[in-house]
Amino acid sequence: MNAGAAHAEAIGVAVAGVSKRFTHAVKGVVHAARDVSLDVAPGEFLTLLGPSGCGKTTTLRMIAGFESPDEGRITFGSQDVTHLPVNQRGIGFVFQNYALFPHLSVFDNVAYGLAVRGQASGEISRAVGDVLQLVGLAGYERQFPAQMSGGEQQRVALARAIVIRPRVLLFDEPLSNLDARLRVQMRDEIRALQKRLAITALYVTHDQEEAMAVSDRIAVMNRGSIVEIGTAEALYHAPRTRFVAEFIGRANLVAARVLAVADEHIEVEALDRRRRVPRHGAAPNPGTSCLLVIRPEAIDVGDPDGASEALAGTVRTRTFLGEKVEYTVACAGVTLQVVRHSRGAGDAFVPGAQVGVHVAPDAGTLVTDISEGVSP
Ligand SMILES: Nc1ncnc2c1ncn2[C@@H]1O[C@H](COP(=O)(O)OP(=O)(O)OP(=O)(O)O)[C@@H](O)[C@H]1O
Ligand SMILES: [Mg+2]
Repeated sequence: MNAGAAHAEAIGVAVAGVSKRFTHAVKGVVHAARDVSLDVAPGEFLTLLGPSGCGKTTTLRMIAGFESPDEGRITFGSQDVTHLPVNQRGIGFVFQNYALFPHLSVFDNVAYGLAVRGQASGEISRAVGDVLQLVGLAGYERQFPAQMSGGEQQRVALARAIVIRPRVLLFDEPLSNLDARLRVQMRDEIRALQKRLAITALYVTHDQEEAMAVSDRIAVMNRGSIVEIGTAEALYHAPRTRFVAEFIGRANLVAARVLAVADEHIEVEALDRRRRVPRHGAAPNPGTSCLLVIRPEAIDVGDPDGASEALAGTVRTRTFLGEKVEYTVACAGVTLQVVRHSRGAGDAFVPGAQVGVHVAPDAGTLVTDISEGVSP
């Protein structure tokens, strides 16, 4: 095979109303997945993101076929796979702990899936050589897992998953055993490989930065349910729920009261000012109490120049982080997180300093679903 070529035809994955309950020794009955529905487009890279225990692995394992749902349907393309055994689904699965066979060489680990299908040895050698090349491990055929670094072992696991030319590629926290630098390198490689193979991929992580870096779209989960699905940009700039606003990136959540609603924007009173924020879909009634989500980089601090637009603030903390400086600033009765690009002497506001706080009148987005936040 030519492993570098696009796979035959990418297929979509549809999860419809899937639920799964477990009886847990300590927690009793656990609703690990509650009515989960999502559509992954052919060739799309979709990530399930959420805190520990929210049901990501359970959902992925049902898509793989390692668990069967109590309710709901899973389809690959037009085929209902809900009750199809794992080995008939045409999936490649990459686990957190690599799950390589320690007593087998790299070649035999990668060849395993082809050998059990009874492929001819010449074909197997060619295919294994191709995928090892693809993951940057050409020449490693005779090595054993114990002789390799974590990053190399995870590349073997990736090669093993793609060598069978799966219809769908599934990843469960594949990078969490690697150090920070390698994680960034490997996530870029996984992303590039998935695009090159044009294969539909589902990826699980609890790391929001990793999710943003690899995904076409992200499904944020909490307590067994999908809270929101969208591109990283949409979830970051226009979250609809408090949970997503807090889980994706950092957020200032300030109390806001709705004053008036127009087609394109909503007028609110927040941070001692009348503000006009973009409207996304249905709008709350005037008088409603909501939260305004303002990202730290949308706020700036400067000398207290008395400009009428600026709010008066007092610097509480300053953290220099190289390319950026983070501040917390007491302002209008709340503490705001502010992030600025480093700009030499211009960013040296020390704790206790009086500053002017600039929040653009149209900064932020209104969140009306404030029922649940991210627990600390
Ligand atoms: N086989 C099982 N038996 C009993 N309870 C289970 C089982 N598998 C998962 N659970 C429970 O279901 C819930 C969801 O677990 P799951 O592994 O899907 O979470 P997760 O989002 O992958 O978390 P993490 O980020 O920690 O891996 C948890 O409360 C977990 O304890
Ligand atoms: Mg998990």
